[in-house]
This record gives sequence, structure tokens and C-alpha cells, in this order.
Amino acid sequence: MEPRAVLTADEIDLSDMEFWARPWEEREGAFQTLRRERPIAKFPEPEIPEALSYVIPQGDGYYALTRHAHISEASRHPEIYQSGQGATSMIDMPEEMLDFFGSMINMDNPRHARLRRIVSAAFNPRMIKSIEERIDFVANDVIDRVAPLGGCDFVTEVSSRLPLEIICDMMGIAPSDYDTVFSCSNIILSNGDPEYVPEGTDPMLAFMTAAQQLNLLMLDLAKYRKEHPTEDITSALVNTNVDGEALTDSEVASFFILLVVAGNETTRNAISHGMLALTEHPDQKRQWLDDLEGRSPTAVEEIIRWATPVIHFRRTCVAEDVEIGGQRIEEGQKVVLWYNSANRDEAYFDDPYRFDLARTPNEHIGFGGGGPHFCLGAHLARREIKVMFDELLRRLPDIEVTGEPEMLRSNFIHGIKRMPVEFSVPRTTR
Ligand code: HEM
Repeated sequence: MEPRAVLTADEIDLSDMEFWARPWEEREGAFQTLRRERPIAKFPEPEIPEALSYVIPQGDGYYALTRHAHISEASRHPEIYQSGQGATSMIDMPEEMLDFFGSMINMDNPRHARLRRIVSAAFNPRMIKSIEERIDFVANDVIDRVAPLGGCDFVTEVSSRLPLEIICDMMGIAPSDYDTVFSCSNIILSNGDPEYVPEGTDPMLAFMTAAQQLNLLMLDLAKYRKEHPTEDITSALVNTNVDGEALTDSEVASFFILLVVAGNETTRNAISHGMLALTEHPDQKRQWLDDLEGRSPTAVEEIIRWATPVIHFRRTCVAEDVEIGGQRIEEGQKVVLWYNSANRDEAYFDDPYRFDLARTPNEHIGFGGGGPHFCLGAHLARREIKVMFDELLRRLPDIEVTGEPEMLRSNFIHGIKRMPVEFSVPRTTR
């Protein structure tokens, strides 16, 4: 599929949800137009619903950064483009939400550096190596559950299960609570999608209730782990480490919400979009099947670039007299980093609309544009995606998407809600 420019630069409004309901080719066509004609365009902010206007002020717009080079520049200068001013979402977050979502992603130094120092050991490559067996086990368990059926909904049965079970497992959440965590994370990222927010419920209330539920679950666990430590991350975070540092119970709880939100939907959607792309590009699938181990490292990166599960994050300019790409940015102005656009930037990638599992180099910015907030879970996500595809291709080699995927309408998460797949039932189990 190729982008189709049906909107002129003047007609594009990235804040309008109608824009996000347009077909993929038209949205891509619009981003192509912006990159070429207005790489740093100013847009009004989405209108704050009346019911929320008392907690969230209507902001006066943002600059949309759509080129790879500009997004990298803003990401690598956190002293100019900060994350803690009203949060990293397009519209400011009300104070009461920051209590729950105020983890490191919405912080600047020195608070960010302290939190990141304490939690980063849990996600480094050595730590991920130590849970490789567990990832293999869960991926195969997920496949065992669907293999005899010959088909299933890929999102609910396959792609969403692995990241959820691994992160809950790492944190020490009991399996009986997995479904609660799953439904709360759906509500938090649903953008008020009626499918996830119960009928007649105010989306904001549903959102806060879901966050509160995760918060309580984790506060209880944090308290318990202080007295009864195990090998899980929660125990490591609440009990002082060698430098005498630890998180408070409420810091652990909001970090957990961040992990659930940041780690589940993203990895799930990378896997779902990867499955869809393999169906649409059978030649690429064939090549991967022919060299499973050899192709995996570049294939995983290309799937992340192709999917770009996180569409944007925002920063706020805190310096005077700043210029980026020839555009002056005033102090206090918001800039939104459109990762989806950077990952298709023709000034940076060779033939960016070609899905090429052997692509090298591939310095996509699906995990962020560099700088201190670069995705903490990148090693984990890469491993999960690799293992899931290695096992799917090995055990269900003819798996393919057999119906129209149902897309999440969001300008933040590039999500697939449902997607039917079919495959031949394997004659042997594992
Ligand atoms: C394919 C999967 C994933 C994608 C595409 C992704 C993408 C991102 C992006 C774009 C950022 C912001 C980077 C920035 O502002 O510079 C981020 C931050 C973050 N991610 Fe991921 N992520 C993924 C998986 C995960 C996983 C599995 C976890 C953990 C379980 C995780 C935890 C985090 C955390 C904690 C942050 C905040 C880091 C900070 O502020 O210092 N992510 N991720």
C-alpha cells in the first residue's frame, strides 16, 4: 500500500479525530505532505470536552514535528524540551491524574534520573537474558492454547497475552489478577472507545477507576513484599538496593501503571502489525521462514519501524529563543513528536514504504528519538517479539490473517483491536 495525498497542507488537522478515522493511505499521504511542505506545522489542540474543562485548560496549540532529524534533536535536548510540564500527552493532564500517571515518563531531572537509576537494572540485557526461558515458555503456552483450533482472534488470544503475562510475572502479580490488569489497561488506553468503557459511564471516571484499581493492587503487593521479599522486581524496588535507594510504595504503584500501559499495548501491537505485514508480504514471510535465526534481528527492528505502536509523545519548550528546523519555538510552547512520520521519512530511510525484513541500517525511532526517556523496555520488547515470531513461524508456518483487522481509533496508539487468523492444526504439539 502506498500513501495517497487527498488533503492539502491547509486541510490537514492532526488534532481532529476524523483525521484518524481516515484510511491508512490517506493519513500517510497527509504526513508525507507535512514532511515535504510544513515539517513543523502549528495545530490547534483537541477541544477539551465541556465536562473536563474545569480540570484541563484549553491549550493554545502545538508544533507538530514530522521529520526524523527534528524529533531526534528535540528528544536529545531534555533541558530545552521538557516532559514534566503538564505531562507528555498532547493535552495537559489534570493534577489528580498525575498522581497515578506521574511516573518517570512525565518527569525531568533530577527526579527522572533518580527513578530511572533505581528501576533500570530490572530491564537491562542481563536481566532480560535471565528471563529468556520464561518468555519462551509463555510464548509456547500461548500457542498451545490456540494450536488445536486452526484459527483464532490473534489480538485477544495471541499478541496481547505474552507481554501481559511477562510483565505481571516480573512484577510478582498473581495469575488470578492478570485479567483485571488486562481490562484496566484497555480502559486506560481506550481513548474512551465505547467497547472498553462500560455503557453510561463517563470515560474519565472509567479511566480513573481503572487506574485506581491498578494502584491498589500494587500498593498491597508493595507492602507485602517489604515483609516477604522474593526474586520479583517489586521486591527489588521497595527494598533498599546497594546504594541505599528504594521506591516508596506509591512510586512503585505508579511505575507499575506506566509499565502496564507502556509495555502491553505497544508490544501487542508490534506483534499484531507484524503478523498483518507478513500476510501482506508473503515473499518476506518466506525469507524469514527460510532463515529463522538469521533473519530475526533485522526483522524485529523492521516490524517495530513498520508498526510504530506509539504514534506520538509531547514535550514543552522551556527555553527562550529556540529554533528547530528554522522554526522559532517560544518558551512554554508544546511540540508533538510524530514518531509514525519519522519512521517513514524519505529523507532518512531508503524506500520507507517498503516492508523489508533485511533492512540495514534501520535507525527507526519507534522506541523514541534517543535521550533520557528512551524506552526502558526496549530489550524486553525486542526479545518478546523475536520469540513470538520464531515460535509462530516454527509451529504454525502457514498462519495468516483471514479477515479485515479492526483498528483502534486513536492518535496515540497504533492499535489493532481484533484480527482473525487461520492456520493448519499442527500434527504434533511442541
Ligand atoms: C514494541 C514495544 C514498545 C514500544 C514501541 C515502546 C515505545 C516507547 C516510546 C516511544 C517511549 C518514549 C521514548 C521517549 O520519550 O524518548 C517509551 C518509553 C518507555 N517505555 Fe516503551 N515501548 C515498548 C515496549 C515497552 C516495554 C515492554 C516496557 C516495559 C515493560 C516499556 C516501558 C517503557 C517505560 C518505563 C518508558 C519511560 C522511560 C522514561 O521515561 O525514562 N516499553 N517506550
